[in-house]
Order: sequence, then C-alpha cells, then structure tokens
Amino acid sequence: MKRLTALRNIALAFGLVAMTGGVAIAAETESAIAHGGRLYDKWFGENKAEKPTADHPAYPVKDGKYGKDASWRCKECHGWDYLGAAGAYKEGGHATGIKGVSAAAGKDPAEIAALLRDGTHGYTEAQLSNDDVAALALFVSKGQVDTSKFIGPDGKSLGDGAKGEVYFNTMCAGCHGVDGKKIKDAPLGAVASNGWEMLHKVLNGQPGESMPAMRALDHRIAADLVAHLQTFPKE
Ligand code: HEC
Ligand code: HEC
Repeated sequence: MKRLTALRNIALAFGLVAMTGGVAIAAETESAIAHGGRLYDKWFGENKAEKPTADHPAYPVKDGKYGKDASWRCKECHGWDYLGAAGAYKEGGHATGIKGVSAAAGKDPAEIAALLRDGTHGYTEAQLSNDDVAALALFVSKGQVDTSKFIGPDGKSLGDGAKGEVYFNTMCAGCHGVDGKKIKDAPLGAVASNGWEMLHKVLNGQPGESMPAMRALDHRIAADLVAHLQTFPKE
C-alpha cells in the first residue's frame, strides 16, 4: 500500500495522473473529461458545429429567453450545479422542471452516451460526433463535482479569496488582467455572482478557447479562485 502511494506520488510529480476523489485518472482521461465539461457548457462553442436555430424539442418553456440555440446546451436543462430542477434552476427564467444529471454519476459511460442519441435528446452526429458524445458521457459519469462542497446555497464561493487572488494573479491575469476586465467581451465580475457557473468554467475551461482547465488540481483551488472572482466589479 505504502509503495503504491509512493509510486502514485512519483507519477503525480511527472504529471502522469491526476487525482479525483482518491482515484487515479490517466492524463488522457482527465483532458477528455474537461473537453466533455466544455461541451456540457456550450457544445457548439467548443466543437464549432452549426448553432441550432429552433428550440430543442424537449425544452418545455415556450418563447423563453433561453430558447433557440441556448436550449440545446446541457447546462440549460440540467444546470451548472448538475441538479436541474432540484438545484439553482428550480425557479426563475432558467427553470425547466427537468431533473439533473447527478444521479447518472458513476454510471456506465456507454449507457449515458446512448441517452444522448435517444428520442428525448436527439443530438445528431453533425452536432455531436461520437468522440464528443464519449467525452460528454465521461464527464457525466466521472467528472461531476458535488458543488455544495465549494459553493453555498446563495451562489457564493466557500473558498478563500485571499488565496484565490494569488492563484489568479499568477495563472489567469496574463489573459484576463488583474481586474478581470482585459478580455473585453468577458468581464469576469459580471458572471461571478453565479458561483456554480464560474466553478464549472474554472474546472473545465471555456468552450472553444485555449484557457486552462483546473480540474486536475485540488478543487479547493478552483473554489478559492471563484471566491476572488466574486470580489471583482460587476461592470
Ligand atoms: C432541452 C432539455 C435538455 C437538454 C438540452 C439536455 N437534456 Fe438531458 N435530459 C432531458 C430530459 C427531459 C431527460 C429525462 C429526465 C427524466 O427522465 O425525467 C434527460 C435526461 C438526461 C440524463 C439521465 C439522467 C438520469 O438521472 O436518468 C443524462 C445523463 C442527460 N440527460 C445528459 C445530458 C447531456 C450530457 C446533455 C447535453 C449534451 C443533455 N442531457 C441535454 C432534457 C435535456
Ligand atoms: C490563455 C488565456 C487565458 C487564460 C490563461 C485564462 N483564461 Fe479565462 N478566458 C479566456 C478567454 C479567451 C475567455 C473567453 C472570452 C469570451 O468568451 O469572449 C475566457 C473566459 C473565462 C471565463 C468565462 C467568462 C464569461 O463571461 O463567460 C471565466 C470564468 C474565466 N475565463 C476564468 C479564468 C480563470 C479563473 C483563469 C485562471 C485559472 C483563466 N480564466 C485563465 C482566456 C484565458
């Protein structure tokens, strides 16, 4: 046992494996999970497939603000906290009454992949390739985080903002600026009030962008980053 731990630490030091919930995950799998997380966020931003123009057939809100292409995003029906109607989307403009994906964590990825081609979801191969579907299934099966450990019920991070500032200024400010405003289209303070969304993006990266995904590191680092992002000016 001791020897195994030592071996694992050596592997970790060489960046060969990452730890998730005490289970060693190969580097290739971890990056496929992050890709799946970005597809969950906005698949047509990540894989550059054509944006749908009509509401998703399973989207129950008529003439909703989040219809059309937005209604095809996994997060729109299942939530940034993966809890769907039982989580932050239980009410408000995003509410759909649809359950989350949290109960599918740990399930066989092949079963989850089949769901995405079923009558309810109906994603075509032009929208999500078989590799995309496999990455999404891996994310749902092995990549979901229990967000309640990191984000409070009010959407505020439970992390340490002072630590987060150190991480941000060394790892993120090069692209985003120390005030989060350097990328004009995405002032980070503006989206920071939604802690679950920020946590998802920090762990998995931004769809279609060469932004790092922090999920291979201790997730408390992501929570600390979100705490710091939540101190930024909103505009
Ligand atoms: C327009 C709404 C909508 C979108 C978008 C959507 N789903 Fe679903 N999803 C549903 C519905 C409805 C169900 C069935 C829920 C039920 O059984 O009551 C479901 C079920 C699931 C389940 C099974 C959950 C369980 O516990 O049985 C998984 C996993 C899932 N979806 C993953 C995804 C992924 C991944 C995406 C994005 C590629 C996605 N969904 C996009 C509506 C949606
Ligand atoms: C290589 C450059 C780069 C680095 C490094 C980087 N980002 Fe980003 N980030 C981007 C780009 C580009 C976008 C997308 C801007 C857009 O959508 O217009 C983005 C978007 C985001 C968003 C979503 C904003 C929104 O409006 O939806 C968050 C949150 C974010 N970054 C946080 C971080 C954090 C935290 C770090 C450090 C761990 C980081 N980024 C490091 C380039 C970077």
